[in-house]
Amino acid sequence: MKQFALGTHFWIAGAMSLAVLAAGALGIGSVALGQDQSVAAPKDVIFARKILMGSIGDNMDELEGIIESGKIDVQHGASHADLVSVMMLAFPHLFPPTSNEWKPNVDKDPGTDTFAAPEIWTRFADFYQRSSEAAKSAYNASRARNEEEFKKYVTELRADCDGCHALYQKKN
Ligand code: HEC
Repeated sequence: MKQFALGTHFWIAGAMSLAVLAAGALGIGSVALGQDQSVAAPKDVIFARKILMGSIGDNMDELEGIIESGKIDVQHGASHADLVSVMMLAFPHLFPPTSNEWKPNVDKDPGTDTFAAPEIWTRFADFYQRSSEAAKSAYNASRARNEEEFKKYVTELRADCDGCHALYQKKN
């Protein structure tokens, strides 16, 4: 189990260095260098939370795929659930007030623009709490001892995703 947890953290470190490399390739790093280093530029933090949520989405697809396959491999599911749990814990820390940039009725680039609703910043305690609940459901799924438990916690996790999006993610 210890071995496994280490593997996961190496994976995350790898993903993060890839993200840093990608940011460098896009020229984001060089722009940031010319700025006050104590405050991340809003577009950098928006990029970070979008790739993090994107990866949470990919891992959730895996979790739901495992259930749909009919033959639930709890051990395989645990690795994806563990990743979702760690990423959900980091997620709410990527919402500084300067990144409240969503505006109605303007054309948006789904790849780079934010769909985070302004209500996040007026009800941040609730937003934070929902992130923690999702992290907890994912953690419970990673510890499931059988198919029943795995299904139960992945279903709870899906409800956490949808509940938060309904309140805090804009559709356009
Ligand atoms: C606590 C609130 C919250 C929870 C829980 C949450 N999300 Fe999100 N999600 C958001 C917000 C806010 C955005 C928009 C971020 C932005 O555009 O800046 C988002 C965006 C996304 C995106 C689009 C990412 C992109 O490329 O822009 C995907 C995919 C996604 N979420 C999947 C999930 C899945 C799957 C779960 C559950 C495992 C989940 N989310 C749980 C708040 C949440």
